[in-house]
Amino acid sequence: MKLAVVGCSELVTLAGPARPRTDAELRELTIIRDGAMLIRDGRIERVGPRREIAIDSDAEVVDAGGRVVMPGFIDAHTHPVFAGNRADEFEKRAEGVTYQEIAAAGGGIRSTVRKTRAASETELISAANRYVTWFLRNGTTTIEAKSGYGLSLEDELKLLRAIARIGPVRAVPTFLGAHEIPDEFRGRREDYLELVIHEMLPRAAPLAKFCDVFCEPRVFPVPDARRVLEAARTCGLGLRMHADQLENGGGAMLAAELGAATADHLEHSDAAAIAALKRAGVQPVLLPGAVYALGSKRYPDARAMIAAGLAVVLATDFNPGSSPTPSMPMILSLAATQMKMTPAESITAATINAAYSLGLGSDIGSLEPGKRADFVIHDCVDHRELAYFFGVEPAQACYISGVLAWSR
Ligand code: NIG
Ligand code: FE
Repeated sequence: MKLAVVGCSELVTLAGPARPRTDAELRELTIIRDGAMLIRDGRIERVGPRREIAIDSDAEVVDAGGRVVMPGFIDAHTHPVFAGNRADEFEKRAEGVTYQEIAAAGGGIRSTVRKTRAASETELISAANRYVTWFLRNGTTTIEAKSGYGLSLEDELKLLRAIARIGPVRAVPTFLGAHEIPDEFRGRREDYLELVIHEMLPRAAPLAKFCDVFCEPRVFPVPDARRVLEAARTCGLGLRMHADQLENGGGAMLAAELGAATADHLEHSDAAAIAALKRAGVQPVLLPGAVYALGSKRYPDARAMIAAGLAVVLATDFNPGSSPTPSMPMILSLAATQMKMTPAESITAATINAAYSLGLGSDIGSLEPGKRADFVIHDCVDHRELAYFFGVEPAQACYISGVLAWSR
């Protein structure tokens, strides 16, 4: 199967060193004007200016029509498998009740857990695949997908099996049994931790690539998170963390101590934590959609992290509570307006750096020979338009391993 992509106003390749990008590298998108790309059997064979590329007569030609072509977005932090939604709580928040107050009253994550437990695996797969279409409409071709709305052995396994059935976007599974203390374990945190560590983790590990913990002083404080993540590591899982989202509880410091792949959120992390992440080579995953949708003003300090040399990643945190958006272009808009990241920095954070954070940097995240042909035609002529317009769905067509996965 041969494919030739032509008519690219900008072929945004992200070609560069085979590692996550930092500092000034974040701005180097390696754009080819009037570019073309040859694909064979789902992988990229050649990339270059149109005039230098010879197209075999048996290749199928995809004409981008003078639009931007770039790697599909890689959304490295999502919670896409859940039943129902929380539009009712959203209305309450608009009336002034806080996310934490709703959670303390038994709502929030626990209300989604009750609905998700009542749903069948098939119902969860079809709900998730509806959201997959939303991801594709926004140009996302890979998501990291967390469990965490089951919180019992059987329900967590149900969610991980559902994640394995997500498609056609690539979904990288993460076990998030330590997302919240479920209703039946209220006041018995120690018993729930025992369940997560000794019963859930060994059974979940074969179905997951990473383990995550919601590390917050009022949910799973640092000592609890450390126990779960150390156990996860002995089960062969990579480590990710929800850290310092609602307060500075030492989460980022723990991610550094454990050498986690990522520390996510970081709204309340201080300079010492940023320095520790740098020393440990942990990638920060910034989630401005959750700040925006919670109505907070406290965005993570992306500029300080970039200045410190961190390989920043941006993601949606798509979930029914704090960040109900599947839109990476919306995240790019927030990154520009609220965190002063340039469009180029954001695109790097949402593609190649995200790929490395998932251990997939040698396979996806840039358009370079040998990599999978996961690319998107966006309905714009200049990549900066992706961060500039907001509230639109810019993707025109998404290809995954050289196969058309969705088109407008
Ligand atoms: O990343 N904080 C934990 N997880 C999500 C929220 C999930 C929910 O509210 O359902 C987050 O913000
Ligand atoms: Fe999250």
